[in-house]
Amino acid sequence: MLILRNPQEMKAWRLTCGPRTVGFVPTMGALHEGHADLLKKARTTCEVVVLSIFVNPTQFNDPKDLEKYPRTWEADLAMAQEQGVDVVFSPEFSTMYPDQYKYTLVEKDFSQFLCGKDRPGHFDGVLSIVMKLFHLVQPNKAFFGEKDYQQFKLIAGMVEAFFLSVEVIPVPTVREASGLAMSSRNTRLSVSDKKKAENIFRVISTALSATQARQQLTDLGFEVDYVEDIDGRRFAAAKIGPFENRVRLIDNVKI
Ligand code: PAF
Repeated sequence: MLILRNPQEMKAWRLTCGPRTVGFVPTMGALHEGHADLLKKARTTCEVVVLSIFVNPTQFNDPKDLEKYPRTWEADLAMAQEQGVDVVFSPEFSTMYPDQYKYTLVEKDFSQFLCGKDRPGHFDGVLSIVMKLFHLVQPNKAFFGEKDYQQFKLIAGMVEAFFLSVEVIPVPTVREASGLAMSSRNTRLSVSDKKKAENIFRVISTALSATQARQQLTDLGFEVDYVEDIDGRRFAAAKIGPFENRVRLIDNVKI
């Protein structure tokens, strides 16, 4: 397994791939079973698998959230190895943003709703880094978890808008037995908050309306950012935990 540390190395390596199909799983590390599933899909459908690990500062609107984002490099590499990854791309901020983020990719519609409303600039950061990664890795297929369904839709839209030659593949959310969606942020939950977090999936799957789901989550002690039904899906974001370690969780289900 090769570890590449900057865009130049990535570009040089990509030239060696020839006609082999390249599958790409972009991540911010702190890998869990959801990521393992994305890597499995990439491994079974592509000849070469690239995993990127880059905690992207431009998509964090809250510096404290960025600081607290879990970093588990050794365990991530072990999972990458186990899943048969060929290349791990893990660059430094300065090499990915030589322009200091003066050039930004902005979507003006769906990115302003749901998570975009509560986290201004979040999707500008996501789209900008994913565009950069796509240019460097030039994947044939890229795999994204449906847990971040809004992110998946925005990336698929960007690919269409800019005529990129990559197939964006959504992969169903991997859940714990309790229904809790796998997330890197789950590691920040206390045992009791994790138990409470299990209610998110149950509530959004069973409530008769988004308004009812919001009320039920509020009654359970969540600070609800949103619950909204859009295009046959119910989206939710809610925070739990003590003030100094508040964790924001998202989920969505088909309705
Ligand atoms: O979903 C994520 O982990 C990130 O938003 C992504 C797509 C890797 C961009 O930093």
